[in-house]
Amino acid sequence: MDYFNYRDGTLFAEDVPVSRIAEQFGTPAYVYSRATLERHFRAYDESLAGRDHLICYAVKANSNLAVLNVLARLGAGFDIVSVGELERVLRAGGQPDKVVFSGVGKQPLEMRRALEVGVRCFNVESETELDRLNDVARELGRQAPVSLRVNPDVDAGTHPYISTGLKENKFGIDIAEARRIYARAAAMSNLDVVGVDCHIGSQLTTAAPFMDALDRVLTLIDQLAEDGIHIRHLDMGGGLGVTYDQETPPSPSEYMAEVRKRLGDRTLEIVLEPGRSIAANAGILLTRVEFLKCTDHRNFAIIDAAMNDLIRPALYSAWQAIIPVTPRQDVEEKAWDLVGPVCETGDFLGKERRLALAAGDLLAVRSAGAYGFVMSSNYNSRNRPPELMVDGDRVHVIRQRETLEDQMRLEACLPE
Ligand code: LLP
Repeated sequence: MDYFNYRDGTLFAEDVPVSRIAEQFGTPAYVYSRATLERHFRAYDESLAGRDHLICYAVKANSNLAVLNVLARLGAGFDIVSVGELERVLRAGGQPDKVVFSGVGKQPLEMRRALEVGVRCFNVESETELDRLNDVARELGRQAPVSLRVNPDVDAGTHPYISTGLKENKFGIDIAEARRIYARAAAMSNLDVVGVDCHIGSQLTTAAPFMDALDRVLTLIDQLAEDGIHIRHLDMGGGLGVTYDQETPPSPSEYMAEVRKRLGDRTLEIVLEPGRSIAANAGILLTRVEFLKCTDHRNFAIIDAAMNDLIRPALYSAWQAIIPVTPRQDVEEKAWDLVGPVCETGDFLGKERRLALAAGDLLAVRSAGAYGFVMSSNYNSRNRPPELMVDGDRVHVIRQRETLEDQMRLEACLPE
């Protein structure tokens, strides 16, 4: 559930008419709802009430400082994949001891900074990374807390680009190798083995693949106990899907009810790394129709947002709902291709959408709060849109619209 709803024939973000936001801040613009972010975070937190747990929001989904700050105020932890994300979390008031550090290519400099600030855990993805981390920790005279990210070889049944838990993927350590590598890690002087981690993919719409992975990981945890390695936390990664169209993913409480059943009386702390399911439906991309162009074959609505602003449709053939801000009855509904001004055939946000449109109309691309702005670019030298956060009846600018000056600031011509 989210707080983007129609009232009196027009779309509201919480208590603010979206049309007023467009007038005041222009389009295209990302608009987030604080209440929705909070609601989604709490749904996770409450689903694990009574058990040791930590919800580490996956920063990559939406790393705006205000978004991180809203979640930090609720006590969220954070899942990061770079030193950049770490600095954002710190700047936004997140606690370093609630940060887990994922990613296949951590650099020594990133490890060093993470050790200095005292992150909770490194999710290590290869043997060579273990060696590197041990070396960096030794130089600093620290013990690095580690989990191994195991690859349980389950099919997440999602888009191939966002599926990560299969043997053929670059992620994690083959679960068949894990016992041996854990023994190696446990023997290393500057590592402290604390957990097991897995993340099998993103936008999963059933719990079954998570449960397959969980069964395999629990077997591993039992085997490790036999080897004298006592695992304190189990990090199940992120990946719970959202409703973009007709999908009906389990709620966090349904998902966690299954997990609790399987855990039985184990006292493991549960760590989760949700990104999309917290942020996606807490955001829209607001855009305006510039021109309508009807040909013999298709009807194009040329809008002022493009693939550089939201790449998911072009990159993954992702479907996101596109709805009118103020639905109109005075023109006939037609099937429109919603295309941007970028010079690429792949520059579309939606195809064959039945809408009643006139030039100048405002549209909202839904579910744009995750993997939206963070994946945007300046392609075609377009300024990236602003990010706004609605909180009740107020609208806050949480990132200004870029200017051409911003875009060119780091560039220089050659000397005469
Ligand atoms: N943990 C790890 C280690 C991850 O790699 C990811 C996402 C997450 C957590 C968060 O997953 P989520 O709960 O958001 O599904 N750009 C793509 C999604 C890429 C996901 C990458 N990893 C998209 O727009 O669909």
